[in-house]
Amino acid sequence: MAEPVRSRLRKLLPWAFGLFVAGIVLVLTIAYSGIYSVAASAGHPDWLDWFFALGKRRSVIVNSMTIDAPVLDLAELVPLGAAHFQGGCATCHRTPGQALNPVYDQMLPPPPDLKTHAPMWTREQLFWIVRHGIQFTGMPAWSGQDRDDEVWAVVAFLEVLPLMEAGDYRQYARGHSEAQNYSIREIVSEGKTKINLTACNRCHDTDDAPPMSPYVPRIGGQNKAYLKRALREYHSDLRQSGFMEPIAAELDDEHINLLADYYASLTVSLGNPARNPSTPKLEPGRQLAEQGDRSRKIPACLSCHGANKRPDYPRLDGQSEQYLRQQLQLLQRGGRTKTPHGAIMTTIAKRLTEQQAEAAAVFFASQPSAEQVGHKAGEGLRQ
Ligand code: HEC
Ligand code: HEC
Ligand code: HEC
Repeated sequence: MAEPVRSRLRKLLPWAFGLFVAGIVLVLTIAYSGIYSVAASAGHPDWLDWFFALGKRRSVIVNSMTIDAPVLDLAELVPLGAAHFQGGCATCHRTPGQALNPVYDQMLPPPPDLKTHAPMWTREQLFWIVRHGIQFTGMPAWSGQDRDDEVWAVVAFLEVLPLMEAGDYRQYARGHSEAQNYSIREIVSEGKTKINLTACNRCHDTDDAPPMSPYVPRIGGQNKAYLKRALREYHSDLRQSGFMEPIAAELDDEHINLLADYYASLTVSLGNPARNPSTPKLEPGRQLAEQGDRSRKIPACLSCHGANKRPDYPRLDGQSEQYLRQQLQLLQRGGRTKTPHGAIMTTIAKRLTEQQAEAAAVFFASQPSAEQVGHKAGEGLRQ
């Protein structure tokens, strides 16, 4: 650089520094004086609104660039996404056919109607928003730590939401739970809501219907001690799930015990979805389940997961292939290591190749649940 330019820049330096300090002092003075009103009722000046909107849009676009969206099976994911939306999002964002709760309408910025706003974003961008939330707005991040896999069900739902009528939405959000016609007396004294959020039937299996989505596990006929432990672990943040944690947080020990008793004693009368027994993965899956794989130090799955083996370990028979694969992938990623039981299974899951995990999932999904076998043989397999 030429010497005259350099000396001129050197002279400007103290001025630039002075301006910078003056700017900081001005900002601190404005903050300390209380001149700027942070009242939500005051709204933002137009320029600040514009600035925030630009910042939000650019941040979402840039940060979601590296996300690779999987193919979403809408029929499988939407019912779960809708049921969660009702519990985790609807209070702020309203549901089809419903006006926004006036309290949340007074937030700054107010939560938008996603029927019109969801189509403004791509699949990847919706994922990023729901996974990470938006600072300074009240939009929360996903509550299941590191459970990216769960967020896609909500994204699938947001994609079809613009096409949903109020009736379709209610059907999905309610699942197998029943519509109640409360009497005026009940409403006056108990104040019932239209869809009760702790109704497990909104997502899980009943005595005559499978779970609403293959990503929701069957819990009817599952081991009692396992059910209790799972609910306590969700409750105390030891097992991560953005779907189950908010529900388990509402349950106390007494409810957990009663629910585990109820589900363990539920007679599952429903067959599994028809599977083609000649599928090429079935035999390797059976072999792994019955004998394990010595070369990879994998014990037989059934030595721990067989009926009557360990009451505090889960039974796998009759779970869907999707749920089993998802949990095995989660275990392989180290997503269930906060408990001793999770750590045991993590060690085993990490030894499985992708093909083995898939084969095991195909095999267990093709098995009638032990509950059904026990039922047929007239013996109680439940503990
Ligand atoms: C406590 C209230 C609250 C809850 C709960 C909430 N949100 Fe939001 N959400 C907001 C607010 C506020 C915004 C930001 C609006 C803005 O920036 O103008 C927002 C923004 C969004 C956006 C971006 C929309 C846009 O065009 O700016 C999406 C998508 C969204 N939320 C989805 C969800 C989903 C899905 C859930 C449930 C898993 C959820 N939200 C839960 C308050 C909430
Ligand atoms: C919004 C849908 C939804 C509702 C409502 C719901 N669940 Fe779940 N539940 C799930 C999903 C999804 C999972 C799998 C979570 C995971 O990946 O850990 C799950 C997992 C479970 C598990 C662990 C099962 C296993 O094999 O590890 C238990 C136990 C359970 N739920 C019990 C309940 C009970 C009891 C209720 C009612 C008080 C309930 N759930 C309500 C969706 C739901
Ligand atoms: C040494 C005993 C043991 C063996 C062998 C074992 N598991 Fe597990 N498995 C467990 C325990 C314990 C859990 C419960 C983990 C928890 O509570 O977080 C579990 C959980 C699971 C789950 C999650 C179930 C649910 O409902 O969420 C799957 C899937 C699973 N195991 C598959 C397998 C497969 C496939 C094999 C064989 C390749 C296998 N396991 C072998 C002990 C074992």
